[in-house]
Amino acid sequence: MKFLLLESTCDETAAAVVTDDLQVLASIVASQDEVHRPFQGVVPELAARAHLDHVLPVIESALQSASCELSDIDAIAVANTPGLAGSLLIGVTAAKTLAWVLDIPLLAVNHVHAHLYACRLFERRDVFPCVGLVVSGGHTSLFDCHSPCHFELLGGTIDDAAGEAFDKVAAMMGLPFPGGPAVARLAAQGDPAAYAFPRSFLRETDRLQFSFSGLKTAVRYAITGPGDRRDPQSIALSSEQKADLAASFQQAVVDCLVDKSCRAVARTGRDRLCVGGGVAANECLREALRVASQNQRFELCIAPTELCTDNAAMGAIAVERYRAGLFEQLDLDIGPGLVR
Ligand code: KG4
Ligand code: ZN
Repeated sequence: MKFLLLESTCDETAAAVVTDDLQVLASIVASQDEVHRPFQGVVPELAARAHLDHVLPVIESALQSASCELSDIDAIAVANTPGLAGSLLIGVTAAKTLAWVLDIPLLAVNHVHAHLYACRLFERRDVFPCVGLVVSGGHTSLFDCHSPCHFELLGGTIDDAAGEAFDKVAAMMGLPFPGGPAVARLAAQGDPAAYAFPRSFLRETDRLQFSFSGLKTAVRYAITGPGDRRDPQSIALSSEQKADLAASFQQAVVDCLVDKSCRAVARTGRDRLCVGGGVAANECLREALRVASQNQRFELCIAPTELCTDNAAMGAIAVERYRAGLFEQLDLDIGPGLVR
């Protein structure tokens, strides 16, 4: 069996073809980074328009790369939640149209859950049950993953997502969008102890929640001076200052993510932690999680970078939904809101 998977939740238009035994025959991603770079963040209306331009070429390219045609596809799956409303609509409309025209089953994918399924795809063996940490531009969530079709939310961010904080701190330092990779590169040259940035909720050991907006403000005032309302981008920083700011910020984010993930593993009694989402590409986070997993003796699964950032292949979680008989009707709606 072949599944066509579509992803258009935020600013990547992606299509993949996978088999029911989880072979990825094709995975194509059209990035919109160039579209959003001048604005230092994703502009929802521009994202929706770019999805409209990209969706059909990306599907054609995935089919070509998988050496198959639409008539070879047995089921179609689309990420319908969470994400930007205009962006979600493009993928969902394309998927429903194809399901109707081809008269094949339609499946829904939760984008955040799919980020964790990237670990299953990469490992090529069952990774459930596990604790799941999703760290992306839009989400920072911890789950007790009972099975691929049953995720229980343990906690998440009460304000900014980790990736969003990376992007905003990058913008303050005049670094290009998306900011995560740029901050990580700078951080490699800096001192992570140069600035004593806050680590929210770290002492509140019973809370599996995150908050990064205070950290973001602390970086801002470290650049401008306390209470100074000037635009941080207007302040000239030496390359050493920039590197130290990036390293200290990154360390504060990593400390919070690692600490709460370890607590989630301990609380649930699971022996495995799966990590997904764009920020999981961060080498400092990966190394800190590796050390923590050795100290606390749990298994760590993190997908390679291309499966951490947005892609359609991770939508192979739909294969599990197909097996469980969780099909959708053609009135499938988008769910832009927060993940549950
Ligand atoms: O999962 P993703 O591709 O899209 C969403 O679902 O949001 O994540 C994108 C986020 C961006 O905020 C980007 O800056 C961040 O992942 N990111 C990183 C790194 N690579 C991407 N953050 C820190 N370090 C990285 N190496
Ligand atoms: Zn994502």
